[in-house]
Amino acid sequence: MPITPTDQIWMDGTLVAWSDAKVHVLSHTLHYGSGAFEGIRAYKTPNGVAVFRLKEHVERLLRSCKILMIDVPYSSKELCEAVKDVVRVNGLSEGCYVRPLVYLGYGEMGVNPIGAPVNVSIAAWPWGPYLGEDAVEKGVRMKISSWARHHPNAMPTAAKTIGGYVNASLAKLEAVRAGYDEAIMLGPDGRVSECTGENLFIVRDGALFSPPPSEAGALRGITQSSIVKIAADLGYSVTFEALRRDDLYLADEVFVTGTAVEVVPVASVDDRVVGAGRPGPITRAIETTYHQAVRGERPQYEDWLTRV
Ligand SMILES: Cc1ncc(COP(=O)(O)O)c(C=O)c1O
Repeated sequence: MPITPTDQIWMDGTLVAWSDAKVHVLSHTLHYGSGAFEGIRAYKTPNGVAVFRLKEHVERLLRSCKILMIDVPYSSKELCEAVKDVVRVNGLSEGCYVRPLVYLGYGEMGVNPIGAPVNVSIAAWPWGPYLGEDAVEKGVRMKISSWARHHPNAMPTAAKTIGGYVNASLAKLEAVRAGYDEAIMLGPDGRVSECTGENLFIVRDGALFSPPPSEAGALRGITQSSIVKIAADLGYSVTFEALRRDDLYLADEVFVTGTAVEVVPVASVDDRVVGAGRPGPITRAIETTYHQAVRGERPQYEDWLTRV
């Protein structure tokens, strides 16, 4: 998706002009992929723009870096303030997507990351619906990828590591080139894991099921955890349960969740129509509540919002 440039990007504690936010071609991460990132959204609310679950995202970034043994030279509090600054100075009062990135910079070459400088950047820009304008209305077409999700001993699946997304990019590319909107990835054991940038839920007999993140090798999604709470508040039971691909084919409803995508219904999986082929009532109810919660229209979820 194309980016709409904004004015300034935070780089290592300083705000620099968007067009000057550059790195050296010999930056370590550019060659070896070690580093981590986050995807966060901020929304326009009745009381000003607010970042959704800011602390949780920043803490997941720091946890990703812990796994990689990268010492981030900023605290969680400093990074939260920096995210708020970036949204504020760029005048993103209508909401935006925020991309914090921790990468190893210029100074060392070779696979050994020790000694490479640790750099941090935070950019923000307006970003529309990740899977297309009519995804929420019509649902998306998904394909189970021929690429398996990482084995957890090959790549840490709890971390949003930069290099780990080669796996996701391969799956996305395969799905899009075959005419689908998004890929579903199976884990090394053949069970459903997650999508290239989303977690997945199915609805069966009025109850929700999602693959357990650690067993499925899926990212522990912050949206997934928000949906678990919203679903429970709406009176639906949610179970983390290993799913097979035929559970997807036979589900009454399927939907995906993620910061970028938000909540998007799935219309078909591998050309098998899901349910009635249009977004089901439980997906609708959850999507509507999430939509309102992130925009400050549901007081019970106000704790999830940080005004900038
Ligand atoms: C692979 C993958 N799974 C799931 C998610 C959903 O996570 P979240 O809801 O925290 O954005 C993302 C997005 O960050 C992702 O990249």
